Amino acid sequence: MKHPFNLHILLPSLLIATAGTAYAADAATSQQMVERGRYLVTVSGCNDCHTPNYPESGGKIPESDRLTGNSVGFQGPWGTSYPANLRLTMKNLNEQQWLQRARLPLRPPMPWFSLRDMTDDDCARSMPTSVNSARKASLRLPTPRRVRR
Ligand code: HEC
Repeated sequence: MKHPFNLHILLPSLLIATAGTAYAADAATSQQMVERGRYLVTVSGCNDCHTPNYPESGGKIPESDRLTGNSVGFQGPWGTSYPANLRLTMKNLNEQQWLQRARLPLRPPMPWFSLRDMTDDDCARSMPTSVNSARKASLRLPTPRRVRR
């Protein structure tokens, strides 16, 4: 029997078309995660403490400079606690490790219970995806920076 079209040509092009669709879908999902993560980080107040001068500037710190940690600490019966550089923390942990770290009880005024009550998707996927993408984007900025990212 004769095939209606030449399979040698058809098959590879089908494969390429399918792979292209999968790649486009991945890119779209990850862009949605970046946006969701950016939204969550912004409205759940992480920058208030983890981004220097964020409250003082009315939130007008560019994303490339956010979450780099704060040298202004909080003193109380717990000693002195300093908001960590979340870029470094997130950079070095995979999803599972981040979930464990983020949900451990921490010292005041860190609202660790907010992270505990977030869905795994929001906490372990959207937030780190957006923070990591902002860190990578800021590494490509031309000006040298003093802060560790
Ligand atoms: C009111 C201030 C404040 C806010 C708001 C805040 N944090 Fe924190 N965060 C801290 C302080 C202070 C520490 C250090 C706690 C300690 O030493 O036990 C900390 C520590 C952490 C740590 C541990 C990091 C490490 O490497 O050990 C994580 C993770 C974290 N914060 C994530 C977040 C996220 C995500 C948000 C937003 C939902 C947030 N924080 C909002 C003050 C804050």
